[in-house]
Amino acid sequence: MLKLPGLIDPHVHVREPGQTHKEDWNTVTQAALAGGVTMILAMPNTKPPIFDAATLDLALTAAKDKARCDYAQFLGAGPDNADTAASLAPRAAGLKMYLDSTFGELRLDDMTLWTPHFQKFPKNAPMVMHSESRTMAAAILFAAIYDRPIHIAHVSLREEILLIKAAKERGIKVTCEVSPHHLFFPSPPSPLPVGEGRRGEGRLEVRPRLADQKDVDALWANLDVIDCFATDHAPHTLAEKDGENPPPGFPGLETMLPLLLTAVDDGRLTIDDVIKRLHTNPRRIFNLPEPSETWVQVDEDAVYEIKASEQFTRCGWTPFEGWKVKGKVRKVVLRGRTVFDDGKILSEAGYGRNVRV
Ligand code: NCD
Ligand code: ZN
Repeated sequence: MLKLPGLIDPHVHVREPGQTHKEDWNTVTQAALAGGVTMILAMPNTKPPIFDAATLDLALTAAKDKARCDYAQFLGAGPDNADTAASLAPRAAGLKMYLDSTFGELRLDDMTLWTPHFQKFPKNAPMVMHSESRTMAAAILFAAIYDRPIHIAHVSLREEILLIKAAKERGIKVTCEVSPHHLFFPSPPSPLPVGEGRRGEGRLEVRPRLADQKDVDALWANLDVIDCFATDHAPHTLAEKDGENPPPGFPGLETMLPLLLTAVDDGRLTIDDVIKRLHTNPRRIFNLPEPSETWVQVDEDAVYEIKASEQFTRCGWTPFEGWKVKGKVRKVVLRGRTVFDDGKILSEAGYGRNVRV
């Protein structure tokens, strides 16, 4: 048995408020604990999005009632909430900026809308960018101009990891995360998620898209540039994934650690690499407390197949169905309480704490 610190996932789409048929604070925090994750940072692209005091309260009230692991909630950067977001910074995980995709009220159509956020959001509070490819280059230039740290979400391309490496070498304050699906899915992925033809393709929709083998190889070759692993847990139901307009996103909370432990077993990573990227670095980058008496017990030798039917996420599927992994979470202790034991969730809804209070 191996003992790990409580893992931190800085990138989780909880779906509450607004889309609780996909997931909610209760189910997502159960999935987290089953995956060895004791603290999640929740993304703001809910319905409504989290961008002011009223919507922040909406998310935090639901979390307070339902969460079974610790958490904080991100604010979204919108076209005219820079002052509000800055004043709410102490209550939030940080500020999330969607610089590529358009997300209703969180739309930042041109770069002049980025400026007030870079000027006003406190420099010691985390700013996270959804910025791909050339937009990422622009975000890094903003970090240099305004001389403030930024964290880049879900890096997936060779050109991106090389850019971040160069920026770090110049002393620009940039950190980044990579999601397991971008490390483990070759393109085309093998084995394909269950589902044939168009069905399989809908399930494979994710942003950033699954990349080429050369990109996957570049991520592995530049592991030292990757500060954190993060799931980008983005649950959608199977009916939605197999439907007409499949929404992008994979669930990931329950599969991240087993996949990484399998890579450790294969000699591609060390346990210390994992602890650094799922505990030490996210704690530092996002300014998170260290809960006392919190740890995860893992059976390193357990070999099994990933099965959606055994997961706690409400979405009911996983892109890793049938993958053979080695390493299983047996027990999770959070703030002195056993909260997960041998497949069972033991913390009650509401046990989770907001770490920004
Ligand atoms: C995210 C989601 O579903 O909320 N999906 C994803 O593929 N990562 C939204 C997004 O970041 O595009
Ligand atoms: Zn995301």
